[in-house]
Amino acid sequence: MNIAKIERIWLLIGGGMLVAFMAILLVSAAALGAGTPGGMDTIDPGTVLVSGVFAHPGVTQTGPHSYLVRVAAYTFGYTPNLITVPVGAKVTFNLATRDVVHGFEIVDTDVNTMIIPGYISEVSHTFNTKGTFLIICNEYCGTGHQLMYAHIKVV
Ligand code: CUA
Repeated sequence: MNIAKIERIWLLIGGGMLVAFMAILLVSAAALGAGTPGGMDTIDPGTVLVSGVFAHPGVTQTGPHSYLVRVAAYTFGYTPNLITVPVGAKVTFNLATRDVVHGFEIVDTDVNTMIIPGYISEVSHTFNTKGTFLIICNEYCGTGHQLMYAHIKVV
């Protein structure tokens, strides 16, 4: 088969790019530890509010200026639905759902995550201003979706 010189050059460029991209993938996966998102803690949705770490959701102080807040989502609300934390503290939210996918967005902050059945979502935020913040569900979860909200009070 007779391949024109210009075609051979383009084949080499295309093949070379494939080899280069594959090498980059392999190096980043093997040597730099890159991978697909994961590593989330799992939970049986049936145990939320029943047993385990989500049996008693709420605020736990974990350090001088850090708090862990466990919130259980359900159709159509959050347990607890009023959270109180001190201003300036680092607040880590651990979130689990008892049923379907829900959202957890704290209005006027950068906190915005999904709560997926079987997984514990984690997100942190430091509230630097006092006030009451609205938490809303931003994943459509059923006929009462628009009624699903809670509040966080920063004092
Ligand atoms: Cu929960 Cu929408």
